[in-house]
Amino acid sequence: MVRKDWASQNSIALSWQEPDFPHGAILDYEIKYYEKEHEQLSYSSTRSKAPSVIITGLKPATKYIFHIRVRTAAGYSGYSQKFEFETGDETSDMAAEQGQILVIATAAVGGFTLLVILTLFFLITGRCQWYIKAKMKSEEKRRAHLQNGDLRFPGVKTYIDPDTYEDPSLAVHEFAKEIDPSRIRIERVIGAGEFGEVCSGRLKTPGKREIPVAIKTLKGGYVDRQRRDFLREASIMGQFDHPNIIRLEGVVTKSRPVMIVVEYMENGSLDSFLRKHDGHFTVIQLVGMLRGIASGMKYLSDMGYVHRDLAARNILVNSNLMCKVSDFGLSRVLEDDPEAAYTTSGGKIPIRWTAPEAIAYRKFSSASDAWSYGIVMWEVMSYGERPYWEMSNQDVILSIEEGYRLPAPMGCPASLHQLMLHCWQKERNHRPKFSDIVSFLDKLIRNPSTLHTLVEDVLVMPDSPGEVPEYPLFVSVSDWLDSIKMGQYKNNFMAAGFTTLDMVSRMSIE
Ligand code: ADE
Repeated sequence: MVRKDWASQNSIALSWQEPDFPHGAILDYEIKYYEKEHEQLSYSSTRSKAPSVIITGLKPATKYIFHIRVRTAAGYSGYSQKFEFETGDETSDMAAEQGQILVIATAAVGGFTLLVILTLFFLITGRCQWYIKAKMKSEEKRRAHLQNGDLRFPGVKTYIDPDTYEDPSLAVHEFAKEIDPSRIRIERVIGAGEFGEVCSGRLKTPGKREIPVAIKTLKGGYVDRQRRDFLREASIMGQFDHPNIIRLEGVVTKSRPVMIVVEYMENGSLDSFLRKHDGHFTVIQLVGMLRGIASGMKYLSDMGYVHRDLAARNILVNSNLMCKVSDFGLSRVLEDDPEAAYTTSGGKIPIRWTAPEAIAYRKFSSASDAWSYGIVMWEVMSYGERPYWEMSNQDVILSIEEGYRLPAPMGCPASLHQLMLHCWQKERNHRPKFSDIVSFLDKLIRNPSTLHTLVEDVLVMPDSPGEVPEYPLFVSVSDWLDSIKMGQYKNNFMAAGFTTLDMVSRMSIE
């Protein structure tokens, strides 16, 4: 049961009974909500670790529908039934204020009376010592609790949408360190962003070491909203800590120009890097890059963050060929992205990279990020080719709807194209999770022979002319036998020397 505790013109406070979950501790709750009138258009969601939430930024006197689901180590529960609550109008805010004044006044009078009675009681019975000891114990407990972090959710970190802060400048200082500009040395301009120049330079660390950094600047003459949108990216990036996510060093907000300082990635963005080095890498190197991106995306999806603009242009590459996911900022990234086009529903979306349900009704999720990941795989294996080449956005949408999918790039291992096709399943729940993608790529890397079967080889098999190729999404003979419920024959295959799928595919009747 979800209860409305109070509502103002723009906010609603909800609370609910914590469900009894036998399958592990509750990590957090996801609260999905939308205007009752516009159910099909869009929805928002937020998270809370406690069984209560205050949702802000709502329209006055408007009915909203809320669903809540719970996340445990085992994954998400289903959504609760719908709960409908309405925000207040002007009169309700005034009434709430008057109500609050009344409550405060009553509490003050009651509290004072209680204090007088208790003081007299303690003086008479001499129980002050007992009270002081008990108070100290509870304070110690509270301190221990704070030092250990949130005891109910050990080791779990979830993403907090900076827009849920009433004052977004509070969010940036919660998640990003303020850097003294005297520690930054700007060296040269390396690009232009929507808000201003991007420069390379050096940052003096507190240990006086200098590290290379990229510096995004906010050009002068901005309005409050632009400053907020610019810093939103830092509030998001500052919450992440993963080797495949671009690292935020800090921000400069207390002097001009306002800056975001991040780790420097020597090889720039992945799409242009691959175009510049067409054909230069081994398949294992390419798979290593894809593995890094998938690992970064697994981290983001575990934190409940949906990227919405995953594409090779938004991946940065360092001097060790490590790939890191960058370009955070929700709606803003799409404003900034030259690939994003307006859809009929008014949203700006990078059509070629986006899952059909996200284009059609803005259903963005980690599953739509998995679709985009499949496109990134294709970009990587084709060394930065443009997905769907020169087809128009409209033709891309129609072709996908009719079941068309990008063919394997030249020289692409069959198993990788199969994984791409898996990411491009129409039904979003059938797509692989990022954890599946990481473990699949790990298996490929550990068994490089599985990368030898190319799509070209499968397509020219003489005994299957015209057939749609159905190459397996399995790395080992054992996985494949399990999948066709023939696991009991593993030993027979091994004994007969069929240790790899490549060998199985060449098996003859003899
Ligand atoms: N361009 C944008 N961000 C960058 C970064 N972190 N390193 C190098 N080039 C970049």
